[in-house]
Order: sequence, then structure tokens, then C-alpha cells
Amino acid sequence: DRLERVSVAGKDYDCDEWTNITPKILSYVGRNLHTQKDHPIYIVKEAIVQHFYSSYVKSRGVPLFAVFDNLSPVVTVKQNFDSLLTPKDHVSRNRSENYYINKNTVLRAHTSAHEHELIRSGLSAFLMVGDVYRRDTIDATHFPVFHQLEGVRLFNSQQLFSKCEGNTADLTLFENGQETADKQMCHTLETSKLLEFNLKQTIEDCVKHLFGKDVECKWVEAYFPFTHPSFELEIKYNGEWIEMLGCGILKQQILNEAGACDQVAWAFGLGLERLSMKLFDIPDIRYMWTTDDSFLSQFKNHEDFKSIQFKPILSKQPAVANDIAFWIPNDYAMNDFYDLVRSVDDGLVQTVTLVDTFVHSESGKQSHCYRIYYRHTSRALTQAEVNNLHNRIKDAAESQLNVKGRW
Ligand code: PHE
Repeated sequence: DRLERVSVAGKDYDCDEWTNITPKILSYVGRNLHTQKDHPIYIVKEAIVQHFYSSYVKSRGVPLFAVFDNLSPVVTVKQNFDSLLTPKDHVSRNRSENYYINKNTVLRAHTSAHEHELIRSGLSAFLMVGDVYRRDTIDATHFPVFHQLEGVRLFNSQQLFSKCEGNTADLTLFENGQETADKQMCHTLETSKLLEFNLKQTIEDCVKHLFGKDVECKWVEAYFPFTHPSFELEIKYNGEWIEMLGCGILKQQILNEAGACDQVAWAFGLGLERLSMKLFDIPDIRYMWTTDDSFLSQFKNHEDFKSIQFKPILSKQPAVANDIAFWIPNDYAMNDFYDLVRSVDDGLVQTVTLVDTFVHSESGKQSHCYRIYYRHTSRALTQAEVNNLHNRIKDAAESQLNVKGRW
């Protein structure tokens, strides 16, 4: 019963054994929350874009960073992974992590997928904003679609060293050296350190614009296949450290392949849901997708994002927990179950957690038990509708996942 063709964003694609995109996920393509005026995602995006427009200008007041917010989320595997030097066997390519349209085409898992093409087009500084898609767990902060804002800035030798004093003629971008924790093989230490400084400064200024100048920032070492060195930023907000973004010095090979071999660059990518949930105190990521006016109206007519304070309409009713246990087949991935729940659910499921695993001593068969927490974002649930959905999840699990129910 496999699909032959699937239509995404107005174009038809052939399906194959890689296809795992669901109708539910397709229904989110084109919603473009980041271009919907007065939506919290749009408000945060605008705040960041305006900050970059006013802080970085070329001559005659032209903004330095060009902004792209309608690049198609349908990309090639080449764009999403190969162009970013992701190893062929890297887990991030797995079918269980992504929504594949077919073996060559995927819903982008990050806005970094467009770095190569935009660098190739000759830009030297740009921001990209868009919806990205990842198969993931189910809880108040995870949704299979979210939004990223990515920034990339290129420098030639003169631009990078222009603020250095003394005999800058001796400074060079490149050397034939060794890779260390601080730099890539072909970069001089000066190149890497100046880029790192500029990158961290740019991001900290942006974060201060959003959260106030007293916000505490902590830089943590990280790994991405397409940057070195790489960092993550955590910020302390309401007493809690939260991971805000990933960034780093772009691998020179990416610039070389995009025709910018005499330039170096940094890049960062941040999650707009995280930011906006913290900034406006939104307790559940599902709010982002409601079309309910009691949610959206709270973000209307605000001159300044700083004056917005969200009042949750989340039902005071506690969540209803219901367990589901089954024997799993060998090729089972937890994300298969999470996606199935997402497909059947019509807005009632808040969280799903694996509460128990068990191996049968004789058959060696494995069983998983999940606890599903039912809680609507704005109204109380009846026991009957919870039972009904729970039973539909059980039926769908047995018929679609090849699991054997223990009920
Ligand atoms: N694309 C990375 C992610 O989605 C974030 C990132 C962007 C990291 C740019 C480094 C440079 O996690």
C-alpha cells in the first residue's frame, strides 16, 4: 500500500523505499509561521532581523545582511548533507531522523542546507529563516516542525584584518598547517581567533538585544560536520541554563566548493521556537500551531516585543496518563511510534515517554512500554475522548508498525 507519487508544495515526487513523509507532516508544509504577521515566531524573527539591519550597514546605509525567508523546505540530500560534508554513515542521515520524500529528496532538517547555494551566488553576509523538519520525541518542547534562523558572514583578508594595528601586511588567512582544537588545517591561528571573536560578539549582541544586557552567556565546545571549531551557546534565563544555538567557523572546503576560496566565514543557526517560548513564557510548543484566536490575539498590536507577556490558556486540568505496551520487531525505531502518535493525534497528546523496556528470557523478544500524557492546550478532556484516541493509537500501532500489543 505504498504511495507511488507524493505532491509537496505544488510539485510531484516519485516515492521509493526511503519515503517516510506522512500526510500529517505534509499538512505543515506551507504554513510558514515565520512569515505570518503577529505570530510569535514572526515577532522574534523580526526582532532579530531588525537588530541585524540596524547594527550592520555597508556604505550608504545598505544593510550588510541579506535576508531570505522563502527558500523551499524541499531540498536534495546533497544540499542537506553532502554539501555540508556530513559523512555518508553519519546518524543524522538516518531514515529514523528525517522526513524523506524519496532517497534523493528530503524536507530540510536545518537551514544550513542552503549555505552552499547562497555562498555560490556571491553573497557575503546573509540570514535565512525557515521551517525545518525532524523526527523526534513528543513533549512540551518538541514538535516535528520548527523554525530556524541562520546567519553566515564571509570575510576576505582585508575585511578580517582591517581593525588590526601595526604591520598587517604580514597577516594571512591561510597556511599549510595542522588542525588543532582552535583551528582548521588551512587557517592561520589569527584567522580562526578573529573569526571566533567576531562570531561570538555578533551572537552575544543579538542575544542581549532580545533578553536584555544582563543576560548570562556560556560558550560550550560542540561538533558539527561543517564547522571547526564549533560552539554552542547556553543562556541563563529565569535561573535556568538553556541551549540556544549552534555555530562555528565554516569548513574551508565548503567555501572552496562554493567558489569563495579567497574568503573565510562563520555560521550560526538558532531555533526560533526555543527563543520565543522563553521570551513570551509559552509553556507548550503546540501553541505555535493553533489557529485559535485566544492565542494569536495576545500577540497583536504590540509596538515592541518586550511588552508582550503571554497568559496561557492551558487547561488547569492535570494531564491524563495512559500506558501502552507492545513487543517490538527487530527493525523498530522509537521515532516510528512517535510519528504514528503524531499522525493519529488531533491535538490531545502532550508528552510520550518510554517508561519500561523488557526482554523475554526465553524468546529474547523485546517489549517497550510508553506512557502517553493527554492534555489539550486550551480545554479539559473527557475520559471518553481520551479512551477513544488511546484505542486508535493501539490499533494503528498493530496495523502499521508490525508490533504485537500487550493489552
Ligand atoms: N545546522 C545546525 C543545527 O541545526 C546549527 C548550525 C548552524 C551549526 C550553523 C553550526 C553552524 O543543529
